[in-house]
Amino acid sequence: MVCLGNICRSPLAEGILQHKANQLGLTWQIDSAGTLGWHAGELPDSRSIAIAKKYGIDITYQRSRQFSTYDIERFDIIYAMDASNYRDLIQHAHTSEEKEKVKMILNEVAPKGNRSVPDPYYDSDGFEDVFQMLDKACDEIIRKYNRQ
Ligand code: 4NP
Repeated sequence: MVCLGNICRSPLAEGILQHKANQLGLTWQIDSAGTLGWHAGELPDSRSIAIAKKYGIDITYQRSRQFSTYDIERFDIIYAMDASNYRDLIQHAHTSEEKEKVKMILNEVAPKGNRSVPDPYYDSDGFEDVFQMLDKACDEIIRKYNRQ
């Protein structure tokens, strides 16, 4: 799960998917990162922590880190939160196989819509909508890839 700062959107996406995977006993490796390293080492934004907590999800174990090229090799799927993140991530992909790993997360809900999860950093009222969008996307991810 990748956004710009890895403090607002992608920590929520990681936490929501991890929560759903835990409930189903799925042993997926789920992680998140930011295309920028500005907030490296920091906790998620307090507003993301609060909205996750509202829905019974603890994301305070997470710490921000910057995405690295190695992540493309290491993970099967890389979800970009928005179009700018997508463009940045594609720069890390060297083969067509690696490029295909990079996807827009909301395309799981609206295929080929290429919709972005809005950046809520400067919009405190946006966190509820962001949570709901990511929750729906994570339901689709579970439905699509749960092989149990
Ligand atoms: P995120 O949000 O990419 O969802 O983590 C942001 C976090 C920090 C900044 C921008 C967006 N920032 O400008 O520091």
